Amino acid sequence: MDNATRLQYLEAMGIDAWIPRTSVPVVSKPIVVSEGTTEHVIREPELRNATSTVWADLESEVSGCTKCALCETRTQTVFGTGNKTADWMIIGEAPGQHEDEQGKPFVGKAGLLLTEMLRAAGLDRDEVFITNILKCRPPGNRDPKPDEAESCSGYLRQQQALVKPKIILAVGRISAQTLLNTDAPLAKLRGKVHKLDGVPLVVVYHPAYLLRSLLEKRKAWQDLQLAVQTVKDNKG
Ligand code: URA
Repeated sequence: MDNATRLQYLEAMGIDAWIPRTSVPVVSKPIVVSEGTTEHVIREPELRNATSTVWADLESEVSGCTKCALCETRTQTVFGTGNKTADWMIIGEAPGQHEDEQGKPFVGKAGLLLTEMLRAAGLDRDEVFITNILKCRPPGNRDPKPDEAESCSGYLRQQQALVKPKIILAVGRISAQTLLNTDAPLAKLRGKVHKLDGVPLVVVYHPAYLLRSLLEKRKAWQDLQLAVQTVKDNKG
């Protein structure tokens, strides 16, 4: 997306400027695990190694998944990208053609707008974790079927448990309805803070929809601000 188009988007959303989030240094402590009378001290490097093995195992399991028929039509699985210890977890619907080709979520036109929306909220794409309800592209970009979402749900749950986000952004109707287990329309789901396994969840319009409906961009911006405020409030 060129700069002029980007500015148009931002203007349509009523955004004047964006300020990059400053990163907060993480101070790590050793973890003490008690087993009877014995105490094991797990230090940061060991914990990091163990966690990266769990991530690698999960990604490899996903890439070989044959739980549903989508494995027959996909080019490759789209696991998710970004910061694996992010405060923000962004969950879309399913890979489209570009994502299926590149193996990364939200890399097409809608992805560019999502990236801009995140930037407008002061978030770099690399500092959030982005994934989808489905890890494989449904042929012709049709809506995911319930059994496909069910087959993939364990992967998403494990990703959430590993990332431990402070906020989840459900992008679009399918994502919101699947995560919240409801068939309520998106207009009813947006504008409030839900919970998913105790984690605040905010629903935003899908950028593909926003690309068609300029008027809704302002609402999308309001939803993002709600999410930003929720993270701030929960940080105390
Ligand atoms: N739409 C989605 O919901 N996810 C993607 O990864 C791309 C487009």
